[in-house]
Amino acid sequence: MTIRIFVSAVLTASVFLSSQIQADAYSEYRENPSADTAFAYIHQVASHPRCGNCHGAVENGLHRPTVGDRRKIHPMNISFIHNLVLRAEGDGFVQIPDTAQPVNCRSCHHNSNGASPGMPPGAANDLMPGFVWHMPPVSMLLPADISPAMLCEKWLDPASNSFLAVRGGRDDMKTFEKEFVHHASDDPLVRWSWNPGPGRTPAPGTHADFVAAMKLWIRNGAACPDPS
Ligand code: HEC
Ligand code: HEC
Repeated sequence: MTIRIFVSAVLTASVFLSSQIQADAYSEYRENPSADTAFAYIHQVASHPRCGNCHGAVENGLHRPTVGDRRKIHPMNISFIHNLVLRAEGDGFVQIPDTAQPVNCRSCHHNSNGASPGMPPGAANDLMPGFVWHMPPVSMLLPADISPAMLCEKWLDPASNSFLAVRGGRDDMKTFEKEFVHHASDDPLVRWSWNPGPGRTPAPGTHADFVAAMKLWIRNGAACPDPS
């Protein structure tokens, strides 16, 4: 009897603890919004599987998308070889046709989520026409263990934070603010992370809180946390 009560108390405590740890950065930001807590929350989002799965992982030298909360390599031998290549045109993006590769992300991933768990997710919106399901280059990996300082340095590096648009960075903070706030608020792929379809855990917090945190962090100078 005593043992049973003890075991269930330990179980309850550890379930409580792990949900506490997960919710940490988000609830700290909500309780005490500052540029520092905002970036900690942004880091919690960016290292979540809903963001990291598209940004991918390297397996045997190949850059591949990953799936699920445990970030397994995408089934069916999918890799960057099947990626769409987009070009900015007018107010939107158009796909550059790749006749050598008949199968691409869009063969399975459409403008909205599949109706049941295990079906391909999908995303699109009219705020960024044509910016549909595809993956970034390998320089933009978002591994689960990326440190806040590394994430911050990566994003502020103008040479590596886009291959489609000029996003600024340390050298041009005005463009950085405009582009990163736009990307956080309007990008259908970012927005999808809070609307990932049946059977998938959404990214932490809410999309609106993520956009507000991005604004708060950047408007206070986009400071990076200590590398420790
Ligand atoms: C469906 C795939 C997909 C998902 C999901 C996704 N991204 Fe991306 N992300 C991309 C692509 C493609 C690019 C490259 C765009 C470019 O070069 O302009 C990109 C680029 C970025 C960039 C530009 C800078 C860089 O170095 O990474 C940021 C920031 C970013 N994503 C953040 C996020 C966050 C945060 C989430 C989750 C809330 C997320 N992404 C979810 C596909 C995705
Ligand atoms: C032949 C069909 C097919 C192709 C082509 C394909 N996918 Fe998928 N993808 C799927 C299916 C099915 C799932 C759902 C798997 C699941 O949830 O277990 C999926 C899931 C994903 C997920 C997981 C989302 C999450 O967070 O769990 C990502 C990311 C992804 N695909 C990216 C891509 C990218 C990027 C490409 C192109 C380079 C691509 N896929 C090409 C069928 C495909």
